[in-house]
Amino acid sequence: MVSLFSPTSLGTLELKNRIVMAPMTRSRSTENGAATDLMATYYGQRASAGLIVTEGIAPSENGKGYCRTPVLDSPERADGWRPVTSAVHQSGGLIVAQVMHCGRIAHRDNKAPGAETVAPSAVCAAGEMYTDGNGLQPFDQPRELTEDEVPEVVAEYRRFAALALEAGFDGVELHGTSGYLPAQFLCTGTNRRTDAYGGPVENRIRFVVEALHAMADEVGAGRVGFRICPGNPFNDLQDEGPSDVEDTFRTLLEEIRHMGLAYLHVIRLAGADLDNLALASDHHDGALVANDSFDAREAEDAISSGRCDAVSFARHFLANPDLVERLADRLPLARFDHRTLYTPGPAGYVDYPTAKES
Ligand SMILES: Cc1cc2nc3c(=O)[nH]c(=O)nc-3n(C[C@H](O)[C@H](O)[C@H](O)COP(=O)(O)O)c2cc1C
Repeated sequence: MVSLFSPTSLGTLELKNRIVMAPMTRSRSTENGAATDLMATYYGQRASAGLIVTEGIAPSENGKGYCRTPVLDSPERADGWRPVTSAVHQSGGLIVAQVMHCGRIAHRDNKAPGAETVAPSAVCAAGEMYTDGNGLQPFDQPRELTEDEVPEVVAEYRRFAALALEAGFDGVELHGTSGYLPAQFLCTGTNRRTDAYGGPVENRIRFVVEALHAMADEVGAGRVGFRICPGNPFNDLQDEGPSDVEDTFRTLLEEIRHMGLAYLHVIRLAGADLDNLALASDHHDGALVANDSFDAREAEDAISSGRCDAVSFARHFLANPDLVERLADRLPLARFDHRTLYTPGPAGYVDYPTAKES
């Protein structure tokens, strides 16, 4: 019988088990977005996962939203990631880089000088974000990308994929949810455009489809994953008017169905009306990685019943570097400390002990 511990393949990625580490922003890169040795230690400690998905990494300075988050936009920055990918590979793991362009979910204090906050439309998000210098600040007022600039942003995703492979990553994952740039294009509340990238659903999905094609062209579709969470209102994302989330995602998934992507990474959004896993499996032929608030038993059920091929865990991986071993041996799981989620330095990052150590 297939279990959490059975090997599987996601596209060209051959996983030793079906336990995936979900992406988590941890704000441990340098202020200017370079990867650090501490990050290599952190990811290396978690290499018993079948696959690690990194924290969201911006494909350009404009795409950076949060303080001390990484940017991958040059060969030098790719070099900086090599200790991370080596640490994971040396321990027998696989790691893909998640590309996260924040679009309007940004503050200029968190960006490089001269970088801009851009979005499909000049619609400011309600809410605030943390900055190191001035604490909580309202989100930036974004500038609307011109129609000529949108392909330039797509090209940033292409460059990201190429640089990720250069850095030794096994693949890339497009972050398509949580109110960041791709989600901003899909949603009528944040996309008020009247050109080829806005309006009817065929236009609103165009940016995401182009970004996925650009990444797949560069590294092969079998190394490209896509993270979605239809109906996720996080970061002030709401459709306006008659658009329908289910229709948007049905159309999008049908448009990319033939691509042969490595996997869809689906956040099921506990408590929501829409069954995101069912929606994804109805409109996707390849592998599914399920996420959101799974415990071991539910994850086993989801895999053995064939509802997904793998399950990703975020918070459990944070506090349990040896999560795979703990699940296999049915050992208790440690809880994470929310006070050190995004603080600089090793505390609450690389000092969670394994079961053997504690
Ligand atoms: C500290 C933290 C940072 C996160 N950062 C990201 C991120 O960079 N990219 C992303 O796609 N999801 C991010 N998430 C969401 C998680 O990947 C995951 O979807 C969520 O925590 C639910 O999974 P869980 O119940 O296993 O924790 C983050 C979650 C946490 C707790």
